[in-house]
Amino acid sequence: MSSDSPASPDSIRPSGSLLLRTMAMPGDTNPAGDIFGGWILSQMDIAGSLLAREIAGGRVVTVAVDSMKFMKPVKVGDIVCCYGSCQKIGHTSLTIELELWVKKIRDGERPERFLVTRGHYTYVKVNQEGRPAPLPESAGARAAAGSDAAAAGLGISAGC
Ligand SMILES: CC(C)(COP(=O)(O)OP(=O)(O)OC[C@H]1O[C@@H](n2cnc3c(N)ncnc32)[C@H](O)[C@@H]1OP(=O)(O)O)[C@@H](O)C(=O)NCCC(=O)NCCS
Repeated sequence: MSSDSPASPDSIRPSGSLLLRTMAMPGDTNPAGDIFGGWILSQMDIAGSLLAREIAGGRVVTVAVDSMKFMKPVKVGDIVCCYGSCQKIGHTSLTIELELWVKKIRDGERPERFLVTRGHYTYVKVNQEGRPAPLPESAGARAAAGSDAAAAGLGISAGC
């Protein structure tokens, strides 16, 4: 089977713009040495809020996260990349579809990458009192443009 075949892991690509890239560290582990699921969810929330703030043009809060499944464990030293795109724009809220990918780099071996989890995070634009505020008219265009990082040319090759 060729590495470009539809069934090969290499053919499964992250979807959306690269929003966040970091490394899983020992302080993020449970007693068994695996990375906490809560740490992964918080990285995704940070990544989603970066894009949501760009689109909303101001402060946002997380109002909902849909149910998620962890398909693979994350280990210390893994490069963690979060990709996302805006799926829905409402009056005050917007929903970002997020994917968390891992890239493992081992000496002398080809990097391995895989999808860990995906989910939908919904954010609400809020005013100074913390109450919902209307999204700007430009929100749709900003959502279509993706993240500032993507516009700056930070693409998949720099991620997982
Ligand atoms: C987010 C918050 C300001 C919304 O206030 P609210 O009075 O419930 O606001 P509304 O009922 O008018 O809903 C506002 C928007 O959120 C959406 N929303 C509310 N609950 C939702 C849910 N469970 N799932 C998806 N969207 C939801 C509404 O559909 C609405 O979207 P729209 O304006 O695009 O149609 C308020 O619930 C809050 O402060 N929550 C705490 C947020 C927080 O601390 N998050 C964690 C840290 S960031």
